[in-house]
Amino acid sequence: MNNLKTFFPNVVLTGAGVIKEIPYWVNHFNGRRVLLVTDSNIYKLGFANKIKDTVSAGSIDLVIWDGVIANPDLATVKKGLDALNKDNCDFIIGLGGGSVLDAAKAISVSATNGGDVRKCLGLYRITKRGLPMILIPTTSGTGSEATQASVLVDEVNDTKVAIYSEYNMADIVILDYELTYDLPSKVTADTGIDALCHAIEAYVSKGSSDFTDLMSLSSIEKAGKYLVRAYTNGKNDKEAREGMADSAFYAGMGFCGAGLGGAHGLAYPLIDYNLSHGRSVGVFLPWVMEYNLSCAEEKFSNIASALDKSCASLSVREAARKSIDIVKGVLKSLDISYKLSDYGVEKGKLSSMAEIAVNSTKRLLKFNPKHISVEDGQEIYKKAY
Ligand SMILES: [Fe+2]
Repeated sequence: MNNLKTFFPNVVLTGAGVIKEIPYWVNHFNGRRVLLVTDSNIYKLGFANKIKDTVSAGSIDLVIWDGVIANPDLATVKKGLDALNKDNCDFIIGLGGGSVLDAAKAISVSATNGGDVRKCLGLYRITKRGLPMILIPTTSGTGSEATQASVLVDEVNDTKVAIYSEYNMADIVILDYELTYDLPSKVTADTGIDALCHAIEAYVSKGSSDFTDLMSLSSIEKAGKYLVRAYTNGKNDKEAREGMADSAFYAGMGFCGAGLGGAHGLAYPLIDYNLSHGRSVGVFLPWVMEYNLSCAEEKFSNIASALDKSCASLSVREAARKSIDIVKGVLKSLDISYKLSDYGVEKGKLSSMAEIAVNSTKRLLKFNPKHISVEDGQEIYKKAY
């Protein structure tokens, strides 16, 4: 077993309607004025005002700032920090998908670590806790509410950067299932396959431990039971919505300790093809599983059994192979093609895309159970075409 390294939010509240407990927890952390960080889409859905009403009833001031953009950059964090300072806020609520939660975390630690997000970037560089913070995911996918990472864009150097710190975490996570009941089906599919990809990559990761395996396998089991149900009948299937919210959170708990792998790494260049993050990693998931199969057969057989209990009667080798077919079946049921040719990728660009992916994402690929060289990445790209 690897040495254990994982990170925990202090409090996790789950259930339909649990946002009503927010005033108690703001008071508990001595918050007097709250900055609610979100984006304009979530604001339009009315969730932010619903929380404002709940908090105001508890005599706490709350200011809504809906300025987070998709793939937030460092300038966005600065704007959020300006909003925080302008209104003298001392407590943060992040409400939204992964981009919003990553930005909320970055605003929180920037506020208490000198006020400059650039000085917070990197591995464990910051020395102080962020402002007290509640994170409330509105999608079931990124797992950002569970992790110690904020992935951001450095708009000056045109590159992805990140904050990793035990201080860059939620004090309180609220999984209020009601916020996910009306997710559009395409968002359900894309974020759900991201969660499943997190769980599978973390489970077979070189960085996995007994603890992260427990979280990852539970996540896989729930995704096997609920993901397609949430996609096909989410409006009427609360049990599936709740199962997927838990699945995404468990996956976050798994990968924040274990790391990710080849599907997340190789998907990196697809950002230029207007694919959502979830869809781009979903394309590579079965192909990377196939590549990894020989060096983690037992784990892949466990994945098959977690996704489909009938696989428990198969031999380890048969079940391991079957895990790939099951994942392809899930992708088909979600109407997500796992062929690059279906997304307008030009055949002539495969080699250079693979080279860029492998060279740009070594921080992810180092956890993949089997080494991926540029040539290996090019082979996987060819198969995925
Ligand atoms: Fe992801």
